[in-house]
Amino acid sequence: MTKPIILTGDRPTGQLHLGHYVGSLENRVRLQADHQQFIMIADMQALTDNADNPEKVRSNVVEVALDYLAAGLDPAQTTMFVQSAIPELAELTMFYLNLVTVARLQRNPTVKSEMQQKGYGADVPAGFLMYPVSQAADITAFKAGIVPVGEDQLPVIEQTNEIVRKFNSIYGDVLVETKGLLSTHTRLAGLDGKAKMSKSLGNCIYLADDADILKKKVMAMFTDPDHLRVEDPGKIEGNMVFSYLEVFDTNKEYVAELKAHYQRGGLGDVKVKRYLLEILEAKFAPIRDRRAEFAKDKAEVMNMLRIGSQKANAVAAQTLLEVRRAIGVEYF
Ligand code: TRP
Repeated sequence: MTKPIILTGDRPTGQLHLGHYVGSLENRVRLQADHQQFIMIADMQALTDNADNPEKVRSNVVEVALDYLAAGLDPAQTTMFVQSAIPELAELTMFYLNLVTVARLQRNPTVKSEMQQKGYGADVPAGFLMYPVSQAADITAFKAGIVPVGEDQLPVIEQTNEIVRKFNSIYGDVLVETKGLLSTHTRLAGLDGKAKMSKSLGNCIYLADDADILKKKVMAMFTDPDHLRVEDPGKIEGNMVFSYLEVFDTNKEYVAELKAHYQRGGLGDVKVKRYLLEILEAKFAPIRDRRAEFAKDKAEVMNMLRIGSQKANAVAAQTLLEVRRAIGVEYF
């Protein structure tokens, strides 16, 4: 029995945080046993909006790999690799670019909103505008039928399938359509109460954070600004401590009890925060410790990525060969 093929990836622009953990890492660890999973560190894609800061991208490649290993991704089950080490991906992108219009790329909701966020307007780097095409190359190079993604990436999947259909209709059936697999958890809010935990908002708990930092961050979490005295009734909505308990505490009954108590009055913020800290420590201390252990030998981590990249390379090279034959660009 051949296992279904999965391809996912992250841009190495920072360490991974708990939002990544509940949004994707946990899911990938679960999927690796019965899928053929490829996970790509998308350094080329990271450069599309960081061309002037290559050191940021470069230094985070090993950091992201450490986060993967710490979270429980196992090189024996999951092929972890670096995008720039697979030149076939760039070549596939060149072929696919002719199957997409600039207008279609500008209409891609993911690209559109990211362009707005970054204030690019017409001065968008061409490489950034066309990153969905390069992502189509990533996915199709591995003939991945499944791409676990966040909701914001679904338009990229849709565009990938448009490219696949167009390619196959012109050149013959070579490429495989793919499906986005949404993770079960909704996105994790930031420590400050903003809708999303994100590096650029500075509201993250990182997998690498030590016990002291974790404690400081939890103690500073946004709760109910009107809950001034312990005996006052408190609000649950928008209260990050309870949002996090909902995500991380498996004891749902106890969380319901705490909520009721808080709403009634008589339960202080510090007490609930201490409890959340216990829950987070139990879950993330082993991951943090494993990360520190792997970080002692970064050369070995890079070696793992080198071996993964060789494997990925062989797969992508086979697809590229089929693509070249289908188009007919094989002369010698
Ligand atoms: N776009 C993804 C992100 O923003 C990273 C990525 C690049 C990716 N290529 C991919 C994800 C292919 C899934 C499949 O993090």
